[in-house]
Amino acid sequence: MDYFVEPDWIPQGEIAVPGDKSISHRAMMFAAIADGESEIHGFLQSTDCLATMNAVRALGAHVSHCADVFKIRGCGQYGLSAADHDLDLGNSGTGMRLLAGLLVGQSFNSCLCGDPSLHKRPMGRITDPLIQMGASIEDSAGKPPIYIYGGQRLRGLNYCSPIASAQVKSAVLIAALYAQGETQMSEPQLSRDHTERLFPSFGITIQRENNQVSLCGGQHLRAARVDIAGDFSSAIFFIVAAVIARQASIFLPNINVNPTRIGALDILRQMGADIVLTNCREHSGEPIADIKVNGGKDLQALTLPAQAAVRAIDDWPALFIAAACAQGVTKVRGIAELRVKETDRIAAMAEGLQVLGIKVQALSDSITIEGGVMGGGTVDSYGDHRIAMAFSCAAARAQGEIRVRQCDNVDTSFPYFVQAARDLQLPIREIS
Ligand code: S3P
Repeated sequence: MDYFVEPDWIPQGEIAVPGDKSISHRAMMFAAIADGESEIHGFLQSTDCLATMNAVRALGAHVSHCADVFKIRGCGQYGLSAADHDLDLGNSGTGMRLLAGLLVGQSFNSCLCGDPSLHKRPMGRITDPLIQMGASIEDSAGKPPIYIYGGQRLRGLNYCSPIASAQVKSAVLIAALYAQGETQMSEPQLSRDHTERLFPSFGITIQRENNQVSLCGGQHLRAARVDIAGDFSSAIFFIVAAVIARQASIFLPNINVNPTRIGALDILRQMGADIVLTNCREHSGEPIADIKVNGGKDLQALTLPAQAAVRAIDDWPALFIAAACAQGVTKVRGIAELRVKETDRIAAMAEGLQVLGIKVQALSDSITIEGGVMGGGTVDSYGDHRIAMAFSCAAARAQGEIRVRQCDNVDTSFPYFVQAARDLQLPIREIS
C-alpha cells in the first residue's frame, strides 16, 4: 500500500499520539515474568508490540485487555513454558533482541524468527555478550533465526559494549536477572534508559552511574502498574511537519520526553524551531510533557557532532526532512547504525530526498543535505515505517504531490497514522 499526500499542508490541531513502543515491549515482557497480575495503561497496539504480546502468550503468560489497558497474569521468573511454535517477532528488532535476553535464562528451548527485514539485521551484538554469560545460542551467520537452548547456568558478566545500544544493554540486563552474581555493563554513550527506569516498578534494584549499570542476579519481579505516554519517535513526524510548514500550530499532549530520547527536540530548536514543553510531570519513572509547536520560523542548517546520533537514533529520517527545508548545508556524522535499521535509512532517505530535488551526499556513516526547494515525486520507503512517515510529513513544505511506496509497515509503530495525520489536516490517501 502506498500513501499519496498533497502539498501545501498547514498542520493544525491536537492529536493523541499512541503509546511508547520501547516501553510497551519492556512492560509486556517484565509483566510476563513477574509474580501476580500487572496492568499496562497505554500499551501500544502496533504490530511490533502485538508480536511481543503474542510471544509471551505462547510462553504461558495470560494477557487480556479492554481498550488500551492490558492485564497480564505473569508466570513468575521461572514459570514460563516452551512455546509449541517458533516465536515470530515480525519487524521488531527490540522484540527479538530483548526476548533473547529473557529466553536464555529459561529451562526450555526457543526459536526466534521474524520478517525478511528482521532476518537481515545483526544479532551478534546480543548473542556475543549472552554467550559470554553462559547462554547457548545458534544464529544464522549473525542473523536470525535465533535458536536458544535453555537450561544453562548463567553467570554475571562485566561487559563493555562497543556500541551505545539500548537493545544490547536491555538484553544483557534481562539475562542478568537469571545469572549468578553481579552483571556490570558500560556503553560508550548513554542509550535510552527505559529498562533501568522500569525495573524498579517491578521491584528490581539496579545501580546506575553515568554510562554504567549493574544488577545482581536472582532478583524476582513483582507485578506492577505501568502508565505509558505517547511515543516521542511517533510525535516527531508531526513536530517536523509543523516546524517546516509556512504556517502551523499543533498540540501533542502526554508525550514521553525521556532525556535520552529527545535529541531531535534540541536539534530542531537549535535550527530555529519554536517548540514548547508544558505540564511537565512524571509517570512510571518517566518524564512526560505536552508539546506545542508553532510553525513558520526560518530554519538554519547545522553541523552536528557524532555524539548527537544516539539521542535521536530513531528520529533522523524526520530530521533529514527538516534539514532539506533549512537554509544552508546540514552535516550529520556518526550515524552508521542507520544502515542496519529496518532498512538502510541513510540510503533510503538520500534516494527519496534526491527524487524531491534536494542535493544529498551520503557516505558510509554520514550524510550532507543542502536545504532547498522540495518538489513532488514518487519515493520508496523500502517498507520502513519511519521512512514512510518522514516523507508523508514532507507535504508540509513540498511544492508537489508525493507518493510514498510500501507503507504497510507504518502499523509496526503508529497504528492509525493516516487518521492522526488527517486529524491534523493532512490531505493523505492510501492507495493499494
Ligand atoms: C530501542 C532501541 C534503539 C531504537 C529502537 C528501539 C529499544 O535501537 O533504534 O527503535 O527499545 O531499546 P538500538 O538499541 O539498536 O540503538
